Amino acid sequence: ENTPVPFEAIGEAMLHQLIDLFYSRVAQHPDLAPIFPDDLTETARKQKQFLTQYLGGPPLYTNEHGHPMLRARHLPFEITPKRAAAWLTCMREAMDECGLEGELREYFFHRLALTAQHMINTPDQGK
Ligand code: HEM
Repeated sequence: ENTPVPFEAIGEAMLHQLIDLFYSRVAQHPDLAPIFPDDLTETARKQKQFLTQYLGGPPLYTNEHGHPMLRARHLPFEITPKRAAAWLTCMREAMDECGLEGELREYFFHRLALTAQHMINTPDQGK
């Protein structure tokens, strides 16, 4: 019997719900909203594609946008430790709200925390 990849274990419906809940928090977060577009529709669409492949599902992001080069794509934005923490807080709350629990949540959140850490490109001081 094959172990499902995390994408299949979470399921597309919950993953999409999670990302929509996440961006509704980002839009209201005082440290995050200023660096994001006002309309997050396209941002959420790309994140659904990206996190699908990040969790072992089909390579939807790469098929449309090429190699993710995630750190490079974040360089135009000042990603401070404070903003990385805020990003992860929005994600934790979104996971709470959509009911993602247990080992799958711990695995997913841990990987996101490592990736968020890797995105930091600006020190906190004065920001
Ligand atoms: C795009 C901020 C972490 C995945 C963006 C954008 C911003 C941003 C401002 C541009 C949105 C737009 O113009 O549509 C941040 C901040 C983070 C963070 C403050 C805190 C550490 C992450 C993490 C991931 C991620 C951890 C993935 C696990 C993406 C993707 C895009 C994106 C896939 C779309 C890239 C594209 O334009 O094709 N992020 N991000 N980000 N972010 Fe992040």
